[in-house]
Amino acid sequence: MSTHNADSITIKNLEAALAGESMAHIKYMYFAQVCRAAGDEETAQAFEATAAQEVQHAFGHMDLLFPKAQLDPAKCLELAIEGETYEYTEMYPNFRHMAVQEQHDAAVAEFDEQIEESKEHAAQFKAVLEKAAKRFNALTKVEERHANHYRAALERVNALQEKCA
Ligand SMILES: [Fe+2]
Ligand SMILES: [Fe+2]
Repeated sequence: MSTHNADSITIKNLEAALAGESMAHIKYMYFAQVCRAAGDEETAQAFEATAAQEVQHAFGHMDLLFPKAQLDPAKCLELAIEGETYEYTEMYPNFRHMAVQEQHDAAVAEFDEQIEESKEHAAQFKAVLEKAAKRFNALTKVEERHANHYRAALERVNALQEKCA
């Protein structure tokens, strides 16, 4: 889902590294919950501190996969819609199918829930994108008004200069 050549091994490795670091973050936050529930605050904090560093590692991979110079809010929303749509149209339905075959009922229920969630997220991002598009159009109109204003001023100045010449 990056903006790069999907055949590059390094891009695939960066995507795998991004997935790994992201997962490490979530795992450590989860382990921190386990430690805190067991009354081990010190270990909980050690996990949380490391989890925060994993986010920075993941951001580093994001910088290479999705350079900020190539992104704007509309592009970010498009990528997010693409990702969520993939989740609810392909990924989770495939996972669900396999879970049914393996009779893993809890996983089936989990995937069903995630299909609904991803659908909702995609719809929410689409709504934000539509609103943003209107804002962008409004800005374009303001710019157009400014340009017309300057053009009129320039014509006035030119007319004045012709008169003086
Ligand atoms: Fe890391
Ligand atoms: Fe989501």
